[in-house]
Amino acid sequence: MKVAITGKGGVGKTTLAALLAQAWAREGAKVLAIDVDPVASLAGALGFADPQNITPLSQMNELVEERTGAKPGTMGQMFKLNPTVDDLPEKIAHEHNGVKLIVMGGIKEGGGGCVCPESALVKALVRHIILQRDEHVIMDMEAGVEHLGRSTADSVNVMVVVVEPGMRSIRAAQQIKKLATQIGIKNIKAVGNKIRDVEDKKFITDNLKDIKVIGFLPFTSEIIDADKQGALEIKNSQISETIKSIKNSL
Ligand SMILES: Nc1ncnc2c1ncn2[C@@H]1O[C@H](COP(=O)(O)OP(=O)(O)OP(=O)(O)O)[C@@H](O)[C@H]1O
Ligand SMILES: [Mg+2]
Repeated sequence: MKVAITGKGGVGKTTLAALLAQAWAREGAKVLAIDVDPVASLAGALGFADPQNITPLSQMNELVEERTGAKPGTMGQMFKLNPTVDDLPEKIAHEHNGVKLIVMGGIKEGGGGCVCPESALVKALVRHIILQRDEHVIMDMEAGVEHLGRSTADSVNVMVVVVEPGMRSIRAAQQIKKLATQIGIKNIKAVGNKIRDVEDKKFITDNLKDIKVIGFLPFTSEIIDADKQGALEIKNSQISETIKSIKNSL
């Protein structure tokens, strides 16, 4: 499965990405998690020891220069838009409890839609991982989807939009669906998070209309407490069961 996780800020994208990755790893499946958020937080959620010491690919200046032929942070230079990346997952991935992780450091576009060298490398690597790698891939994304690009989007099996009970996250989900459809992602599903009761579930299902909801995660102090500790180590069996069923419905 190649899964991209999106949604409004703070709805629980990183939480869901980490829980899914951990569930796959626990089954013994190969899983590669990718943090594409410029404000990276997936390493912490996955329990990596020193998340702040993981350098994102976009900040590996020597590597960016070696592969693209241009210095990062510069504009107007010629550089390779298709740098070699096949060897990079093994080189730059970190591993913890069976989950491999690559921190990309965001996919930014320069002014006027131009691409800078570090973005070209990040994009090429994301494309390679989605198209070529034989393992489960979970991408923790920002709300936008355009940066995936059409050729990558075609190969993402499913985009999961996380929603919480609230109109802003519902509207964001509809907007994301529109954008995703435009770039060719057909399979879009939703997961309701921070659910307190049946009313919350009904609110989400009624308002999302044509986006299928494949699971609801409860609002729980366990997730908040786990976040205080740093890593998401959830022992709540209701959450584990829900994650299992979400996994099966992807
Ligand atoms: N089911 C839940 N119950 C209680 N708190 C939750 C739940 N899910 C997430 N949270 C809390 O909400 C906050 C945001 O969660 P998370 O970081 O996963 O969201 P996000 O969508 O990745 O945010 P961002 O847009 O900043 O990347 C965290 O403090 C997290 O612990
Ligand atoms: Mg996040």
